Amino acid sequence: MDVVDAVKSRISTRAFLNTPIDDAEIRSLLNDARWSPSGGNLQPWRVHVVTGDARNRLVAGVKDAIAANPFADEAELAIYPPGLWEPYRSRRFAIGEAMYEKLGVGRNDKPARLQWLLQNYEFFGAPVGLFFSTDRRFDRGQWAHLGMFMQTIALLAEERGLATCMQEAWATRAKTVSAFLDLADEEMLYCGMALGRANPAAPVNSLRSDRAPLDEIATFHVE
Ligand SMILES: Cc1cc2nc3c(=O)[nH]c(=O)nc-3n(C[C@H](O)[C@H](O)[C@H](O)COP(=O)(O)O)c2cc1C
Repeated sequence: MDVVDAVKSRISTRAFLNTPIDDAEIRSLLNDARWSPSGGNLQPWRVHVVTGDARNRLVAGVKDAIAANPFADEAELAIYPPGLWEPYRSRRFAIGEAMYEKLGVGRNDKPARLQWLLQNYEFFGAPVGLFFSTDRRFDRGQWAHLGMFMQTIALLAEERGLATCMQEAWATRAKTVSAFLDLADEEMLYCGMALGRANPAAPVNSLRSDRAPLDEIATFHVE
């Protein structure tokens, strides 16, 4: 698969088959992803792989935590800045509405929307969960490098016929997940990622997000 094909065919998959993925395949994928770049070659990333019984225990534990305290937010970094402004606000709104349309969930159906959001905490049915953490003494520079590692994993997964969904939703349960993963005190949970095989029959997987035109994001300085 060409790199450009991988970049363009990767999507956020939100319905997975429960087909297991071999440990050897996951190891090989992560082994390749180690070659992601980072400033100063710090490689400021850690990845925690959750499969099998561990995955099921984590999902059950987070489900209990949500039932006990449905609106807890344990995110150390705000997922979005407060009072999100344009054009970001509209972009976020548009992808959300497009997703609920695929799901057949109406604009005012808050219970159904909430139920759907909870799917995040089951990895959308994926058999493998990845969690990305970094040392909390790092700052934004290194957080960006973590993103490079994650995107490399997503593209390598695509090449292998696997599907992914990056999931910052897990950050809202960072304490629960960190305890489960037994993270060291200095390790900060940033994001999760579901990994598995896409369910081709699920309508939500037909969602295709758009992108701003090039001239909105690129400025060419030529004179
Ligand atoms: C760091 C990061 C975190 C994300 N977290 C979530 C999430 O928690 N739940 C979710 O359904 N999608 C999540 N997404 C998916 C984005 O909504 C998606 O990437 C965006 O809408 C573009 O769509 P595409 O990935 O299909 O190209 C996340 C994406 C990124 C890059």
